[in-house]
Parts: sequence; C-alpha cells; structure tokens
Amino acid sequence: MLKKKRFFPRRELAVFSAALAFGVWAAPALAQEVSFAEDVLPVLNFRCTECHQPGGDGYEISGLDLTSYEGVMAGTKYGPMIIPGNWQESNLLAVIEHRTDRQIWMPHNRKPLSKCEILLLRFWVLQGANDN
Ligand code: HEC
Repeated sequence: MLKKKRFFPRRELAVFSAALAFGVWAAPALAQEVSFAEDVLPVLNFRCTECHQPGGDGYEISGLDLTSYEGVMAGTKYGPMIIPGNWQESNLLAVIEHRTDRQIWMPHNRKPLSKCEILLLRFWVLQGANDN
C-alpha cells in the first residue's frame, strides 16, 4: 500500500510560509528608496513641527528643529538624534518607538505614530538618512 504523503511536510511548510511572509513584507520596502522630502518630512510636518520649530515647546526645551533636513540632522543641544545607517542608536527613533523614559515619548502627549510611519523612518535611517 502506498504511504500517504502530505504535499508539504509540516516543517518545510513553516519555513516556506515564514520566508513568504518576510519576502512580501520586506522586499518592496527595501527595494524602494525612502525619500526625505516626499516620505519623511510630511510625517514630521504633520506630527512634530507643531512643537519642534522656533517658538514651540519641543524646540525651546531641546533645541530640536524638525522643519528641515538640516534641523533634523543638527539634533538637540545634547547631540545628534540621527545616526545614519543605525536606527537602533538613533534617539529620534528611540523616542517615537517608546524605547526611552515615558516623559520623552514622542509626539509628546499625543497619539503615537503608526507602525507604518515608524518603519518608514527606520528605513530612511537604514538607507543612510539621505537628503533626498
Ligand atoms: C506637543 C509637543 C510635541 C510634539 C508634537 C512633539 N514633540 Fe518632541 N519634544 C517635545 C518636548 C516638550 C521635548 C523636550 C522633552 C524634555 O527634554 O523634557 C521634546 C523633545 C524631543 C526630542 C529630544 C529628546 C531628548 O533627548 O530630550 C526628540 C528626538 C523629539 N522630541 C522628537 C520628536 C518627534 C520625532 C516628534 C514627532 C513624531 C515630536 N518630537 C513631536 C514636544 C513635542
């Protein structure tokens, strides 16, 4: 009698679906270059510049101006907030991903950024935090 054979052995199926899920999620995101002007700045304008421009709370307390590429890269009076290529060490990412003390979670006292907006910023940093 023929042994009944499953089309996909369970282990292979798991590996296959993990690869598929990762591929579908990561491939388009990595293939596409994130643009500072077209992708990142609109998020900052919409969610951050209310406070991070001269006259705003965030700017007055930390010195961080999020209205331009130069401002973002200049960081705060304590140093840079973006380390090109390294989102884990970039403090701007740490505060929006809530990896810091609660008092400096950003946007301050506002709805957190979406996972999608956070990933966009991560990819921008990972791709070198370019002025593109
Ligand atoms: C409602 C006002 C407000 C909004 C909106 C806001 N911030 Fe802030 N931000 C602040 C204030 C106030 C501080 C100073 C916090 C402190 O040092 O106590 C600050 C500080 C920071 C710092 C420096 C953290 C440090 O080391 O002290 C970063 C980075 C930052 N904000 C990023 C952002 C980003 C990115 C956004 C948008 C996603 C954002 N902020 C939106 C008010 C705001």
